[in-house]
Amino acid sequence: MGEPNNLYKQQTSVNREKRELMLGQRGCVLWLTGLSGSGKSTIANRVEEILHSRGVLTYLLDGDNVRLGLNKDLGFSAKDRQENIRRIGEVSRLFVDSGLIVLTSFISPYEEDRQSVRRIFNDGEFIEIYIRCDLAVCEQRDPKGLYQKARNGEIKNFTGIDAPYQPPITPEITVDTAKLTVEECANKIIEYLVEHQFISRNKWRD
Ligand SMILES: Nc1ncnc2c1ncn2[C@@H]1O[C@H](COP(=O)(O)OP(=O)(O)O)[C@@H](O)[C@H]1O
Ligand SMILES: [Mg+2]
Repeated sequence: MGEPNNLYKQQTSVNREKRELMLGQRGCVLWLTGLSGSGKSTIANRVEEILHSRGVLTYLLDGDNVRLGLNKDLGFSAKDRQENIRRIGEVSRLFVDSGLIVLTSFISPYEEDRQSVRRIFNDGEFIEIYIRCDLAVCEQRDPKGLYQKARNGEIKNFTGIDAPYQPPITPEITVDTAKLTVEECANKIIEYLVEHQFISRNKWRD
């Protein structure tokens, strides 16, 4: 462990404000949370496509990609999930400091872990998005066949089956993927960004 008493935050002359001015956008994180199969990756990907097509700089951090690299030393116990989310939060913070609109697509099942990430951001910059979908629908979709494996006992600690999912208490946005189309969910998120001036409205004039 480092010794906090001997650590000083270094100020840099090229800072967040200058980067954001250059990009014409304000950094924030769109934190998508929900059960496996609820639609996090699908919606995050669609939101990113739309933003990219309008010249907004984004970065998408998605579950397995991060677990295959930065977090490959972590498993799925509550403690490892906590560390997984903590690191993703810190990486997101660096990207937000770069001025990017960051999208994260992780189950992130524990309210406390999501709250800890929220606390490292300035007010308003952590946008929690509940990708709502009943377990039965997720299980029916089972896009990766994981629920089937969990039911057969081939996967342990699977969220919704033998590990808990705690829905967000105060999400900024909720989208119900059993009722809305992917396009409707994506547009709801983009409208939030325009309304809260993370991206300029004139990028949305056709
Ligand atoms: N409104 C919707 N939003 C997102 N996904 C949807 C929706 N309706 C149906 N789906 C389907 O549900 C599945 C969601 O899978 P995925 O995005 O991989 O979920 P997650 O990343 O949350 O595990 C996809 O096969 C997608 O096509
Ligand atoms: Mg996914």
